[in-house]
Amino acid sequence: MVESKMDWGMKNRMSKIIPPDDGRCVMVAVDHGYFLGPTDKLEVPSKTIRPLLPFADSLMLTRGILRTSVNPSANIPIVLRVSGGTSIVGQDLSNEAIVTSIEEAIKLNASCLALSIFVGSKYENQTLLNLSRLVDDGEEYGIPILAVTAVGKEMDRDYRYLGLACRIAAELGARLVKTYYCENFEKVVEGCPVPVIIAGGKKLPKETDVLQLTYDAIHYGAAGVDMGRNIWQSDHPVAMIKAVRALVHENFNVKESYELLVKEKERDKEVQQQQQQQGFMK
Ligand code: 5RP
Repeated sequence: MVESKMDWGMKNRMSKIIPPDDGRCVMVAVDHGYFLGPTDKLEVPSKTIRPLLPFADSLMLTRGILRTSVNPSANIPIVLRVSGGTSIVGQDLSNEAIVTSIEEAIKLNASCLALSIFVGSKYENQTLLNLSRLVDDGEEYGIPILAVTAVGKEMDRDYRYLGLACRIAAELGARLVKTYYCENFEKVVEGCPVPVIIAGGKKLPKETDVLQLTYDAIHYGAAGVDMGRNIWQSDHPVAMIKAVRALVHENFNVKESYELLVKEKERDKEVQQQQQQQGFMK
């Protein structure tokens, strides 16, 4: 990738999102409630978020959850979701607007702003204009924009569609793009001149599927993950994020990361047992 001209603030914030030592990131997504409401295992966001903080490079969430559920003294870079205005029971999820101003994002000390684009949907144009406006604001204040390539039910998550959406996002000025892993993922990465990170998507049936997905994405050029449900809907979220982290930052293979996961789950169970016993004794 050719390094583009960035001022100090933009470089500084980008380095918080993608640490420059290895150019990879583990972003934890907890923004789901902005259209899904109290999602399973994210009903009380502070409880979900707190144990994961030491192992996350950054946290993606809305201003409401940031204010209510994250301690301001927590030393974690914030990726602030600023698009929304729709719900799972409403008419069309693609009908999003920018719902948080740049001034508010600055007050909240956001390191990055995230917004969804819905390429191929009824509101494609509106969401692409949202992105363009947000990029103008972000560039003005040195805040990178993460474009989230949202995929409607009627669209195939193949490399042609995802490659198209990622490229458009980069052309409109996103500094970072989030998409889904797919077959021929390297072609998506090749056609996108800014770093691509992957969402985990719905919780996968097997833990090894999550590890394999992460491994493959990194192997084929992803700069990291922006993962939510496959971490915090796990019965052992800390063990899971540690295993994902090892794949992203320590070049573990799937077998090694699974061994780590098993070991961490055992440790987690022991801690839970000790806590229960202490609870009985009180
Ligand atoms: C919702 C999002 C989510 O943050 C994103 O999908 C990542 O979470 P998950 O790994 O659970 O899919 O952008 O629009």
